[in-house]
Amino acid sequence: MTPMNTVLDRRSLLAAGAGIAGGAVLATGDAAAAAAARPAPAGGRFPKGFLWGAASAGYQTEGNNVAADLWVVETMKPSPFPQKSGDACDSYHRWQEDIDLLRGTGLNAFRFSIEWSRIEPEEGQFSIAELDHYRRILEACHKAGVTPNVTLNHFASPRWFAARGAWNKPDAPDLFARYADRVGRHMGDLIGMAVPFNEPNAPLVVKWSPDMMAATGQPMDVASMAAPLMKIAAKKVGSDEFSSFLFSDPAIAVPAMIRAHDLARAALKAGPGDYPVGAIVSIGDDQAVDGGEDKVAQKRREVYGQWLEVAGRSDFLGVQAYTRYLIGPNGPRKPAAGSPLTKTKWEYYPAALGHVVSYAASQVKVPIYITENGISTDDDRQRIAYTRDALAGLKAAIDAGADVRGYFHWTLLDNWEWNEGYKQNFGLFSVDRSTFKRTSKPSAAFLGGIARRNAL
Ligand code: BGC
Repeated sequence: MTPMNTVLDRRSLLAAGAGIAGGAVLATGDAAAAAAARPAPAGGRFPKGFLWGAASAGYQTEGNNVAADLWVVETMKPSPFPQKSGDACDSYHRWQEDIDLLRGTGLNAFRFSIEWSRIEPEEGQFSIAELDHYRRILEACHKAGVTPNVTLNHFASPRWFAARGAWNKPDAPDLFARYADRVGRHMGDLIGMAVPFNEPNAPLVVKWSPDMMAATGQPMDVASMAAPLMKIAAKKVGSDEFSSFLFSDPAIAVPAMIRAHDLARAALKAGPGDYPVGAIVSIGDDQAVDGGEDKVAQKRREVYGQWLEVAGRSDFLGVQAYTRYLIGPNGPRKPAAGSPLTKTKWEYYPAALGHVVSYAASQVKVPIYITENGISTDDDRQRIAYTRDALAGLKAAIDAGADVRGYFHWTLLDNWEWNEGYKQNFGLFSVDRSTFKRTSKPSAAFLGGIARRNAL
């Protein structure tokens, strides 16, 4: 890992996944084949009208989001991102192909993000051509029989917004709401469902990173650790105030974004169309060990509490769950030695999804959608086994009473994975980095089969 005072690690900074030391990358070959060959657990059908989708994000797939704050960050030296996103998957041009692939597998819903920096490349300057671009994507979804699930902000914001201090500025929520209003008025009649933010609790998740807490016993001070990086970005844009969500101080960003969520939701609701607007929360399967119950309760309060409340007063909760965290009296621990790990070095623990959903259902009364769940692996049989077991857990949670209305797999295409660059493979389809040719993996047909049957 590069020294933390200059370049911050993706999971200790962005989303605080499971620790690295002590675990073993999940066995490939025989073990994976055996896991994938196990029969699907008996479980019956998912609820009628259940949405089966794949999730994606503009900055990770479109390519050349040059007006975004993260473009500044990825092109500066040093950068926390080891590889530039560059052309990404060229989905800015190939979105029709992506929708066709998704539909061809049997999925019936598509979660993607609208990029604020394309819609409003300069403060107050809105691009009708770019609004039309996303409107065409929504039209194509409808034509294909695919429900579009739109995220207004998936980690990246406009460069100008970062240069003026992002969420540190009191008028930031109003600026975000103005963007939401433009989007809603231009294409609300075609939106199937929407969220203002992807994982707005990400900086809180990072604060509770097992890597950091295992080392210090203290929540991580993301903002101070990221300060040297923000200085480099500030110099690049010629403003002292540069601030970007992933590197921000949650004490400031969270209240501002809660206000922004409420304003944006009201703006979308006031426009054409009548679709649910929810809130996404990144939730770990937090399990107490050695008397860590109080710490689990503290983590849940601090990391999920406020955003679960926001979701509870919105139209749905979007759950994003990948793995579990063992939490002792001093906080999250790295996975025990020998635990199976995925390619991202998070614990391989598909049961996390069902556990998280049961917890979430005990906290909110609104419907739940799984807006992300998946695995990075080079062995697609592992993806099949992981997905099958995660869905079995989800089905059990539904049978126990959780009101879950859909599942969006992360992700459609192998794409740019933040500070892992192009090293990770979460996709149901691989992408040739020079020709952008998409190739389906067996897991795409596997998930599509479940979608077609609406049953495991
Ligand atoms: C994010 C995605 C990311 C995925 C896998 C989620 O936290 O929303 O952008 O690629 O996790 O790391």
